[in-house]
Amino acid sequence: MNDAVTAIPSIYPASLEEASLDFACRATGYKKRIRAMRELEKDLVRLGDCLTVSRDQGLSPYAQDRRALAAYQLFYGPQTYVRVATVLREWRERIRPDLPEGRPLRVLDAGAGTGAATFALFDILGASGIRVTAIDRSREALRILRELAGSGFDDGRDRHIRTRELELPHIRRVTEQPWDLIIASFSLNEIVEERAEDYLYDWTKLAAKCLAPGGWLIIVEPATSGASWRMQRHRDRLAAEGPLHIHAPCLHEKPCPMLKDAPDAWCHEVRRWRAPESLRLMNRSLRRDIRHLRFSFLIASPLPAPAYESAERLVSPLASRKGLRCCTGCSTDGRLHNTEVLERNVDDDAKETIKQIERGDIVSWDNRELLGDNQTERADAIPRILYRPGG
Ligand SMILES: C[S@@+](CC[C@H](N)C(=O)[O-])C[C@H]1O[C@@H](n2cnc3c(N)ncnc32)[C@H](O)[C@@H]1O
Repeated sequence: MNDAVTAIPSIYPASLEEASLDFACRATGYKKRIRAMRELEKDLVRLGDCLTVSRDQGLSPYAQDRRALAAYQLFYGPQTYVRVATVLREWRERIRPDLPEGRPLRVLDAGAGTGAATFALFDILGASGIRVTAIDRSREALRILRELAGSGFDDGRDRHIRTRELELPHIRRVTEQPWDLIIASFSLNEIVEERAEDYLYDWTKLAAKCLAPGGWLIIVEPATSGASWRMQRHRDRLAAEGPLHIHAPCLHEKPCPMLKDAPDAWCHEVRRWRAPESLRLMNRSLRRDIRHLRFSFLIASPLPAPAYESAERLVSPLASRKGLRCCTGCSTDGRLHNTEVLERNVDDDAKETIKQIERGDIVSWDNRELLGDNQTERADAIPRILYRPGG
């Protein structure tokens, strides 16, 4: 695990925003981007009902609707891109996978939609030599992915995208396997809606059969309580029965302590970001809180996870309460730790550090003592940040 803060902030690339705006003009027939965006706001409100925090129905009802996909691309595309980029950054910087040398990286984007995960991967890996196969049931979404790729990513580097209209249960039919990486970003919640929760495990077993021995499966899902609890149960089953090992968000493979000891909370990340201008304009009617990105995720591999030195992933914010700073961390020992620091021990430097700390960061504590309630630990200083993506 890195012991320094190495990450850079997640920024949605201007080239992709430009390509999405051009596409919005083509989809609406308006030359002026501002007119196209105003027109698409209505489609966005309709879409919002399918993608709200309370429902996981997803994009499928609008999967062939070019205008709805243009609205999705402007409003949800950047959010998904940065969420996936954040997860990929942790994979690359903290987990540090051995990527193949002397041949291209083979990637499957499963339920690729308009391509947010693929574009995030290109940017995070930066290197030449990536072959992505993007599968989706929506022909129209894949067409848009190709249009966006053509306008924004034709930079001469050896990176190729092949698209294929295919149902997720048929991933074994794709011939380019074994994959070094399979990414399923905001797509498995849709299939679970159709086929029930057990299918998540069945699909993961299928995906595992298509992975190279040192390959990786990365799943990113909404941060709704339902989707996140499902992921927690899923990681428990994988940790207990295989075929993959858990590398993140958990720093251990013991049963999820949140399911047992904090049943009202759910494991997810909350990250600050800066939404692009077009997204902020599109938000005029929806009026969502777009200051933070929330998501749950899983990074798994046939490779065993290393044994980490004592550390915790924050599964709550570092909150201020009655003269205390308090938080909960999921620790390498497989337990939740509720820790508090007296406000009077937080000096100005520490206050600056606290401003950076977010739910999902990996931290460690010095000198904690268990208080009389047998549940809370008190530390004499704020935690050290061991790893956080996005700086
Ligand atoms: C919410 S979108 C996410 C798209 C993209 N991965 C992203 O993160 O922006 C979900 C995508 O999954 C696709 N999808 C859902 N169920 C599917 C299935 N059974 N087979 C193939 N694609 C599916 C939908 O067509 C849609 O494009």
